[in-house]
Amino acid sequence: MKIQYDSQRVAYPFFIAAMVLFGAQILFGLLIGVQYIWPETLFPAIPFNIARMIHINLLVVWLIFGFMGSAYYLLPEEVEGEIYSVKLAYLHCVLFVIGGATAIVGYLFRWHDGREFLEQPTVIKVAIVIVVLMFIYNMIMTMVKGKKTTGVTVVLLIGFLGLAVFYLFAFYKPDNMVVDKYFWWWVVHLWVEGVWELIMAAILAFLLIKLTGVDREVAEKWLYIIVGLTFMTGIIGTGHHYYWIGTPEFWQTWGAWFSAIEVLPFAAMVAFTFKMISKKTREHPNRAAILWTVGAAVLSFLGAGVWGFMHTLPQINYYTHGTQITASHGHLAFFGAYVVICLAMISYATPIIRGVKVSNQKLEIFAFWTMVVSMLFMTFALTGAGILQSYLQRVLAYSYMETQGYMSLFYGLRLFFGVTFMFGLAIYLYDFFTIGRKEKHLN
Ligand code: HEM
Ligand code: HEM
Ligand SMILES: [Fe+2]
Repeated sequence: MKIQYDSQRVAYPFFIAAMVLFGAQILFGLLIGVQYIWPETLFPAIPFNIARMIHINLLVVWLIFGFMGSAYYLLPEEVEGEIYSVKLAYLHCVLFVIGGATAIVGYLFRWHDGREFLEQPTVIKVAIVIVVLMFIYNMIMTMVKGKKTTGVTVVLLIGFLGLAVFYLFAFYKPDNMVVDKYFWWWVVHLWVEGVWELIMAAILAFLLIKLTGVDREVAEKWLYIIVGLTFMTGIIGTGHHYYWIGTPEFWQTWGAWFSAIEVLPFAAMVAFTFKMISKKTREHPNRAAILWTVGAAVLSFLGAGVWGFMHTLPQINYYTHGTQITASHGHLAFFGAYVVICLAMISYATPIIRGVKVSNQKLEIFAFWTMVVSMLFMTFALTGAGILQSYLQRVLAYSYMETQGYMSLFYGLRLFFGVTFMFGLAIYLYDFFTIGRKEKHLN
């Protein structure tokens, strides 16, 4: 397949940054997985809290690189025109790399702010806002200059605008801990169960249109349904974080009802995906990209929908709040939704950008199953740990540390599947970095 617009190539450096940081994220994941079992590992050089911070910050940063790269790749085809400024795109890519790298190195030297996911020191936060604004400006100008406006680009833009707006709450740090937590969720929850879902749905729609050849009208109708369901459920669904933090009691009712139906947009993405695949009018040669795309719908439904629903009712969350159940859901949801949709786009776009027909399908498909099965089993291990923990600690009232002693088998399993995950990722990265290096180029 030939690239249609030259400026789509600007996606590639974003994908490279994303893949390098993804590798680093998992290395730190393995380190904290090891520290769970041998707590003295690398202490005091890289203590658990710092390595954990790096693990989850790298995740968020590389996903945003993945989203931006995906946007730059799909925009020209959608609006039928080149990216407004390729230079600006390169510039904010480099700035983001510098900002991200400074933050991570800074963490190693204990330069951080202290709130989970938002540990970036204020100057880095300002840099992130500037980068995102540069990106959004470029995106809007590309849409304005382009020939067409499509539902995919509008939904994508709303997603990115929301990403920027809600991040602003990261600057607000009230002294009162209840108020602090209350607004902390306006970033974390309204990102992953709100505006990021729009970004995901838009990328999913684009990929399905390209991979199946089904009419845009069909895809965009589904896209609007998903967007509607996301807003209808996710906003008030924030209440599922307000059960026990000192917020008014009515949240137990509102949070329960609305978050219970947060499953709907994810179920709609599954229905959408299978509908499109069943109506496909062409056999796309990139089977790996199809697999990742279908995987994003199915795994996000499992991780966010099923594993989210599992502990979202206050009657259950009373026992599971903050246990390994939360971690099991956090892993499968972030992976299934946002990691997999980024990898779907990267698998689809990279061969085209690199001027070859397809990537090494055998390797990519093997990497897909290795990573997916590993993540599923990591999730099962954590779920087992969480059930045991809820029972011993919350029902029988064992102490925290005594409970942890009984959970070591599950932590061992988590580490084992973390290692196999890394193996799958290594294969994926090998393929990603060799695409178009040996084969004859088409253009
Ligand atoms: C892709 C979407 C989602 C992602 C990435 C995600 C991720 C996460 C993460 C990382 C946490 C832990 C936050 C922390 O305390 O540090 C969390 C908590 C939680 N999530 Fe999700 N989530 C998603 C969707 C959902 C959905 C759809 C539901 C409900 C159906 C849900 C229900 C919950 C609940 C109830 C908690 C609080 C757990 C506790 O009390 O400890 N999530 N989520
Ligand atoms: C793409 C894959 C991965 C994603 C999306 C991911 C995501 C996350 C997230 C969102 C958290 C915070 C969750 C919470 O506190 O509820 C977290 C924590 C953690 N992750 Fe990962 N992770 C991944 C891979 C790994 C791997 C391979 C390991 C290796 C064993 C690992 C080990 C850990 C550990 C030990 C924690 C700390 C949990 C705690 O504080 O109890 N992760 N990860
Ligand atoms: Fe939430």
